[in-house]
Amino acid sequence: MSVAVYPGSFDPITNGHVDIIERSAAIFDKVIVAVLVNPEKKGFFSIEERVKLIKKVVGRMTNVYVESFSGLLVDFMKQRNAKVMVKGLRAVSDFEYEFNMSLMNKKLCPEVETMFMMTSAMNSFLSSTSVKQVVMFGGSIKGLVPDDIIPDIVKRANDNHKKINCP
Ligand code: PNS
Repeated sequence: MSVAVYPGSFDPITNGHVDIIERSAAIFDKVIVAVLVNPEKKGFFSIEERVKLIKKVVGRMTNVYVESFSGLLVDFMKQRNAKVMVKGLRAVSDFEYEFNMSLMNKKLCPEVETMFMMTSAMNSFLSSTSVKQVVMFGGSIKGLVPDDIIPDIVKRANDNHKKINCP
């Protein structure tokens, strides 16, 4: 059985992520969406909340599973007996970061392969960071993230806004 891990911060999941999940699920027998900690990013949602939001979105995909892991991605992959990790590539700007990470993962665990999937053109401008900025300043995120989770994201942005303005 072919198992692929699709790792990321997913804070929050966007339509760009959903596109990569759907395309991976059509290639591999099983896809595990793994929410991991990126120490360079501050959390908007907690890891548990991100897992819940992703589950809401991928619930109808029969070969897609969602998990979180606190530690090295390659250790999670060993535990799940997965040899392939899938990464989405948007533009040249993603390349250096992803290239470095794939070499480090290869050094840590030579059996693991990173497979890159080019993002669909319509999502090439999209990132979790830009979604957060748009919603925090009152813009519409329709078409950027799955409809089902828009209320969750808007609510979190409003709660954060209240916290900042009414300490
Ligand atoms: O969506 P992101 O933030 O680009 O995802 C990055 C992520 C979470 C996949 C990466 O930071 C990660 O793998 N974190 C776990 C720790 C690890 O294994 N790092 C790789 C060696 S540098």
